[in-house]
Amino acid sequence: MFLASARKLRSFGIIGMNQRNFGLISKYNPRHLYPLVDDKLKTKLLAQKAGITVPKLLGTLDYQHDVRKLGEILAAYNQFVIKPVQGSGGKGILVISERDHNLYFKPSGDMISLEEIERHVSNILSGLHSLGGKPDSVMIESLIQLDPVFSDYSYEGIPDLRVIVLKGYPIMAMLRLTTHASDGKANLHQGAVGVGIDMGTGAALHAVQFGEPVQHHPDTRKTFAELVVPHWEKLLPLAAACYEMTGLGYLGVDIVLDRDLGPMIIELNARPGLSIQVANCAGLAPRVTVIEALKNIDPDPASRADFSKNNFSTNLRTPLLRQERTRSSDL
Ligand SMILES: Nc1ncnc2c1ncn2[C@@H]1O[C@H](COP(=O)(O)OP(=O)(O)O)[C@@H](O)[C@H]1O
Ligand SMILES: [Mg+2]
Repeated sequence: MFLASARKLRSFGIIGMNQRNFGLISKYNPRHLYPLVDDKLKTKLLAQKAGITVPKLLGTLDYQHDVRKLGEILAAYNQFVIKPVQGSGGKGILVISERDHNLYFKPSGDMISLEEIERHVSNILSGLHSLGGKPDSVMIESLIQLDPVFSDYSYEGIPDLRVIVLKGYPIMAMLRLTTHASDGKANLHQGAVGVGIDMGTGAALHAVQFGEPVQHHPDTRKTFAELVVPHWEKLLPLAAACYEMTGLGYLGVDIVLDRDLGPMIIELNARPGLSIQVANCAGLAPRVTVIEALKNIDPDPASRADFSKNNFSTNLRTPLLRQERTRSSDL
């Protein structure tokens, strides 16, 4: 089934692993720049320097003997997120949205004790969730507050918008919505829903969970047909500006909307995944061709965002209703 569909997928302009690794990542991302985005603390500093809002850093822990300081650091906060500095795919991220003395609560309502959080932090430090199992650091940051526009679409967590940016031009976007299954994290492998987004308008095109098409949010039951990402005018230039910020030519930019603080960058990725194509029911290849044919890169992120709006808009709301049997694991 996989081999039979691989050729068909290519004919849709779907890019596969090989093409991504050699035709995009190695070609456009100089290796020495990886550390800027593989380390979430470095990315935070970089974004702040560029004047881009990021979730506030509440604390960091680097060594096992720091674990005993955790209770003291956390005592000042009722809400926070604990992350491995070099993690990915939502692994090791612990979202705490409520506290009652030494008892902490996840967005699902599940309770977790300080001792359990200490164990979790200790596991992160020993490299359980980091790339290649290397010892890692822990960062604690402020909890992003859900923008009410997403309240019908996001369950027990904060959605994020993934934008693929090639040579500074946003070429494809996907909104990832948390579900009960994804445990407060908007990562597809954790069970989040991926919604393909029209580049021209910010409107939903098509949605998948665990690689299968879905028509409405599995927990809230709200249909995706009416979903439009707000502040689209602002979000695309923000994503485009991450090109100048990092120097990376092929980039996955993760943006969240905070109710009070507006758009923020939470993460940048030098090796963005390919399932964005499944969520969009469209391949990256034709858009890559358009960008690679450009003689000059416009130095203004806002103009580049306009270019993308005009060139990569699908203007089709109907695909949402189409059942496309493409599994993300095939990509
Ligand atoms: N500060 C935060 N507040 C609320 N939710 C967050 C926060 N940081 C991350 N999350 C949730 O966790 C998900 C994964 O976080 P991210 O920083 O992108 O790490 P990863 O590299 O593992 O994907 C986000 O998509 C979001 O849903
Ligand atoms: Mg992420």
